[in-house]
Amino acid sequence: MPGEAITIVIMGATGDLARRKLIPALFELRCNGGCPLEMNLVGFSRTPLTHEGFRQLVWESVREFGPLALRTDEWEDFAKHLHYVTGDLDSLEDLELLTELLNEFERGFEGVANRLYYLSISPALYEVTLRNMGASGMTDEGNGWRRVVIEKPFGSDLATAQALNRTVHSLFREEQVYRIDHYLGKETVQNLMVFRFGNILFEPLWNSHYVDNVQITVAEELSVGDRAGYYDASGVVRDMVQNHLLQILTIIAMEPPSGVDADSLRDRKVDVLKAIRNWSPQEAALNAVAGQYDGYLGEPDVPPGSRTPTYAAMRLFVETWRWSGVPFYLRSGKSMAGKISEVVVQFRRPPSVIAGPDTEIPGNPNLLAMCLQPDEGAHLRFEVKVPGQGLTMRSEHMEFQYEWAFGQQAIPDAYERLLQDAINGDPSLFIRSDHIEEAWRVVDPLLEAWASPNAPRPERYVPGTWGPQAANRLLAEHGHHWITVCGQRYAPSP
Ligand code: BG6
Repeated sequence: MPGEAITIVIMGATGDLARRKLIPALFELRCNGGCPLEMNLVGFSRTPLTHEGFRQLVWESVREFGPLALRTDEWEDFAKHLHYVTGDLDSLEDLELLTELLNEFERGFEGVANRLYYLSISPALYEVTLRNMGASGMTDEGNGWRRVVIEKPFGSDLATAQALNRTVHSLFREEQVYRIDHYLGKETVQNLMVFRFGNILFEPLWNSHYVDNVQITVAEELSVGDRAGYYDASGVVRDMVQNHLLQILTIIAMEPPSGVDADSLRDRKVDVLKAIRNWSPQEAALNAVAGQYDGYLGEPDVPPGSRTPTYAAMRLFVETWRWSGVPFYLRSGKSMAGKISEVVVQFRRPPSVIAGPDTEIPGNPNLLAMCLQPDEGAHLRFEVKVPGQGLTMRSEHMEFQYEWAFGQQAIPDAYERLLQDAINGDPSLFIRSDHIEEAWRVVDPLLEAWASPNAPRPERYVPGTWGPQAANRLLAEHGHHWITVCGQRYAPSP
């Protein structure tokens, strides 16, 4: 019986992402049965390499970033299916050479020969690469499906994202396109939906009657380092907020999906973005804070006087029946006090009946913190009576940690999950074209406001802190403060 084969083509195969993430993830999938047995991996890149040289590069990347215990028999089998083509993405001739190699594999195969193309390349090359792929016949689906995975950033604003979507759609149907956001591959991000819709406890409280504010923090300890060549043109909003933070927000704020298929889920997420109040550039400036860490201007390749923000905090409102009036605070930055990604839902205080009609309950409001990384888990803070006379209250918590429940190595790599989904044809955890465009619509006024020559410079902050002071004022205006729970247990961040 003729079977199915797959060829995975990594464009940009010698780059950082391929070496650190994609190749180890594919090896892992191969070993744990997540890839079809008939699998070829073809690397394409400008760096001149022979097939043997590519095998060496893959070996090193698997050894350095792959599974802890590497079995040589598994490696030998994997290595037989590795191939390489040296070429330029903007050269049609080079892509024709690649196509020729792919056709050659497939000529010898009697069954269905599918292909997954992974664009792990500079976004500046997306358009030309896609067009050359079309012209060289790589998009033809004669003997199997063709899918394309496109890394972020997808565009740099609404207009460029729309233009890129037009090019993509001139070559591929939407269901062949897998726009990737690796945060959606994180186990803890997927768990947000299960936590909300797999329990009866939280959903009745998940609205403006009971929720006071929601905070989403994605903080990194690392500086920009040697990535300024890319980063300085992007800044934190394009690098983190438009994609990762807004993805998290949509899962927190969405209505329950009407089914388990990819589009039911993605429809509800797009609804959230559509409901985010449209800012004028003036309102954007008032509802957001830009920061830049001290020392950024001295990083390699940062142009003198750069105003690129390495930190952003903002207040967004989701204007739905469920969320009207509830501030969603988002913040992200480099060179911060810790690497922490978390969602904190702060509930309203209860009425003060047990403390007497004229006395405020002295305790703290309840908090639910979803720790996305590290210290993966969830914490629920509630008030208890301190034993003894009178009515003194104290905050205590219930806690769940992945490590306790599932063991140390329980959380698979995000890329492994996403690559497997793309191979299986499940786009649920990938971004649809309308989602990308709506997310740009949300942040475009802010990008415009910050790019204006009259905009103030981003406020400086000391590396290793929680960012600029103005970010604290942004919350204080509404009587709130930033809360950092994960890894710290309910410490207010100064
Ligand atoms: C990437 C950004 O998308 O996400 C990087 O380009 C950032 O700047 C990285 O460091 C963070 O990912 P993670 O999985 O380490 O939180």
